[in-house]
Amino acid sequence: MIKRFFSSTADIPETGDVPRHVAIIMDGNGRWAKNRLMPRVAGHAQGVERVRDMVEACGKRGIEFLTLFAFSSENWRRPQEEVNRLMELFVMALEREVDKMLGNDVRLKVVGDLGRFDQRLRDLIAHGEALTADCRRLTVTVCANYGGRWDILNAMNAWRRDHPDQAEIREEDLAPYLSLAYAPEPDLFIRTGGEQRISNFLLWQLAYSELYFTDTLWPDFDAQALDRAIASYRKRERRFGRTSEQLLER
Ligand code: FPP
Repeated sequence: MIKRFFSSTADIPETGDVPRHVAIIMDGNGRWAKNRLMPRVAGHAQGVERVRDMVEACGKRGIEFLTLFAFSSENWRRPQEEVNRLMELFVMALEREVDKMLGNDVRLKVVGDLGRFDQRLRDLIAHGEALTADCRRLTVTVCANYGGRWDILNAMNAWRRDHPDQAEIREEDLAPYLSLAYAPEPDLFIRTGGEQRISNFLLWQLAYSELYFTDTLWPDFDAQALDRAIASYRKRERRFGRTSEQLLER
């Protein structure tokens, strides 16, 4: 079945008890490790295990899109050793997981400014995306060297190149150029680790997402924690600019 993707500002999307699209900032790996007197990178390694659990949990719950902020454009500012270890973890995860993703009908997408990653990682990403391109049960998007402002500017520049004579850009012109053009906008945004900010994640796409913040550190965020986030989501009244009375009339 082909589903239409709606823009939350141009149209009112269908909403259900289970979010179609969950986007997560996986924060708290460093503190999780520090609490155990372990190096920060041990927290990231544990974080990768939670990514695997979350993919499985989302698949079981009928969530169609899971988008994870794995590495921001600003994360290059971290100590070189930590950046290197994160890159190694991406490589290992890709090497280990893509065949299983294919077997479970999970599509992999990696979005961001990938030019700064080394060739081996880029080859693994291209291979993983190609291998799982036809999978549809769940689409897992890993945002890597991603920034929300980068995404919008990248889309604007690409649109401008394709339409040099058009004076004004409209919302529907930009939508196909954004890096998550294949997905509906996130219904539920989760940030673990206690901070309450967006940190230059999906600035455009989160316009009408429900925001959920938890103190749970990412390496402790399990399927039960996901269920608590979904339970909170179910209680929200998604008005998309309308009044509560209008919702009752439907
Ligand atoms: C934030 O915790 C986490 C990161 C910057 C990296 C997240 C990456 C992973 C969990 C690995 C993902 C891997 C794949 C394959 C998708 P932090 O280090 O900022 O924690 P802190 O706030 O406690 O210091």
